[in-house]
Amino acid sequence: MGRLEIDRLRKTFGRGGDKVEAVSELSLSVADGELLVLVGPSGCGKSTTLNCIAGLESVTEGEVVIDGEVVTEKRPEDRDIAMVFQNYALYPHMTAAGNLEFGLKMTTDLSAANRRERVESTAELLDIGELLDKKPKSLSGGQKQRVALGRAIIRDPAVFLMDEPLSNLDASLRSTMRTEIQQLQDDLDVTTVYVTHDQTEAMTMADRIAIMYEGELQQVGQPLECYYRPRNKFVAEFIGEPAMNMLRVTRRGDQFVADGFEYPVPERADGLPSGEPFTLGVRPGAIDIVEPETGVATGTVEVVEPLGETSHAHLNIADTTVTVTTDGPGSVEEGTQVDIDFPAQRAHLFDAGSGVAVARRDGLPGDQTESYPNPRYD
Ligand SMILES: Nc1ncnc2c1ncn2[C@@H]1O[C@H](COP(=O)(O)OP(=O)(O)OP(=O)(O)O)[C@@H](O)[C@H]1O
Ligand SMILES: [Mg+2]
Repeated sequence: MGRLEIDRLRKTFGRGGDKVEAVSELSLSVADGELLVLVGPSGCGKSTTLNCIAGLESVTEGEVVIDGEVVTEKRPEDRDIAMVFQNYALYPHMTAAGNLEFGLKMTTDLSAANRRERVESTAELLDIGELLDKKPKSLSGGQKQRVALGRAIIRDPAVFLMDEPLSNLDASLRSTMRTEIQQLQDDLDVTTVYVTHDQTEAMTMADRIAIMYEGELQQVGQPLECYYRPRNKFVAEFIGEPAMNMLRVTRRGDQFVADGFEYPVPERADGLPSGEPFTLGVRPGAIDIVEPETGVATGTVEVVEPLGETSHAHLNIADTTVTVTTDGPGSVEEGTQVDIDFPAQRAHLFDAGSGVAVARRDGLPGDQTESYPNPRYD
């Protein structure tokens, strides 16, 4: 069992004029066996949150609760959690086996034979049997990270905490390890909070993601829910690659207008006041290039980035850059003019001041008749 609750967590560093509020009023529940990914840009308070859960930082206000028990004042070793760090934090003078065994020695009264058994079964699980006698300095980054994972798993904790465990690995190893951690977490069924600033990692691994910005929680939900129904402009821009295009528009009657752009107000946005400014968001993959004179805007293709199957075309529409995901080579030419359009369902609208989403779409694709491209690509 490992249900984790964070209740109105606040953490400030320093005092007086130097005071930094790293985490503000953060409340989150992580279900037993769930993989929650905490994601956000550098400095948004992810590590601080994780350290407060682990007990490595004291909290300023709020509670951390594991399986109904308030652990806020407990020492890290009394919390039934295990943590994996970006820099592995292995003991350099111990072999991989020694590193795996160390936590067991400290926190359990298992016999040496039982400990050895646990080391071996964990090593088998992670496929690091042949590394057991090696010291960290003779291991590669990926191998060190496996040993670090092993050291956490072996303790069979109620909650796993991982702080950017894959950031030091190269791109291809990172994607392999991503899948492995996900499978491992699923097999072991351990409640996990996984911190990353990488939205792809968050989207692909998480049962739910929690998006933070400047110490505040912006949205919690299933990855595709956050992708298709972002609660605010920050989430909309943070999730999805390349980022959602944002256009400053004003409602004029039944159109949203901007320089060089006119878009019919979607039905669900009918209630929004005329004469007011809004931000209209649309993802690069939602935009179609259409026949001349039939689009909602005409843009000049400034740059085309070929990716193979698709390209990213950056258009200039009255001095605003709009990125469009197009078909591969030859579909658009730099320097030409193209017309664009996109389905009303895929237009996002945000309050121009607060950035809060207004007139959000209902439901997610799947219950729609339109076909949607692979959201990981979009
Ligand atoms: N020990 C500390 N003393 C003072 N300020 C701190 C301390 N630790 C973190 N902070 C500040 O708290 C804020 C949140 O930091 P935190 O390390 O939690 O961010 P993060 O989301 O993990 O960022 P990153 O992605 O760069 O690791 C930052 O403004 C940081 O400068
Ligand atoms: Mg951090």
